[in-house]
Amino acid sequence: MGERDSPGVVREESAQSTWAILVAAGTGERLGSDRPKAFAALAGRPLLAESLERLDSSEWIDAIVVAAPPEWEEPAILLAEELVASKVTAVVTGGATRAESVRNALAEVSQEALVVLVHDAARPLVDDATIERLLGRLDGSVDGVVPGLAVQDTVKRVEHDLVVETVDRDALVAVQTPQAFLAEPLRAAFAGDLAGATDCASLVEREGGRVAVIEGDPDLAKVTTADDLERLSQRLLEREGR
Ligand code: CTP
Ligand code: MG
Repeated sequence: MGERDSPGVVREESAQSTWAILVAAGTGERLGSDRPKAFAALAGRPLLAESLERLDSSEWIDAIVVAAPPEWEEPAILLAEELVASKVTAVVTGGATRAESVRNALAEVSQEALVVLVHDAARPLVDDATIERLLGRLDGSVDGVVPGLAVQDTVKRVEHDLVVETVDRDALVAVQTPQAFLAEPLRAAFAGDLAGATDCASLVEREGGRVAVIEGDPDLAKVTTADDLERLSQRLLEREGR
């Protein structure tokens, strides 16, 4: 019997394994749309649809919790239904910061989950190859794994308008999502103070957790501005031959 024929059975098995948190609760201030970024149009459908569909069809993901903007929970549920995203177990209301949105979603992740993957809806092109490499590196020697890209530009530390230092670029990576964690250290990290956290890994690091970096993917770039959205829309429409 295929997965789609027996969602109840799949759900029970999945309680043991890998859960995804998809954070989509941001306002999208820099995008400047009339609605939250997750519901801005990407190639003719809500931006959230792309990552939701991809995570739902991933062979590595067993269940998904979505953090939606306040008052957008219902549209998120309807979208999941429309996409037949049957792994979506809960849609929660996001918080004032990304970290608070993750914490709200984490509360709906099964206590039996072993691994939690946290992903930004603002990075629509999440793919199975990346997820497989992340999970492959989560081998018991580390608490979390993140994708990172080498920094191309020269980076300087600046105070007021004066350069204090040129930082050694070779030691720097720009970090993306999805980020994969063992469930236990992730929960421990989110039980504490969330102030100043720009990603999940930083909270795990703060608690003394070990986080590994694998090679990121330019396709995981975040949609931030209207330009980003337009470019990605064009790309997806071309790919579909529209
Ligand atoms: N996010 C969230 N809850 C928040 C803030 C952000 O779930 N309170 C999510 C966003 O929906 C996004 C991801 O975290 O998928 C990365 O955030 P970002 O790209 O900064 O999105 P926004 O905060 O919506 O955009 P902006 O900063 O321009 O307002
Ligand atoms: Mg933001």
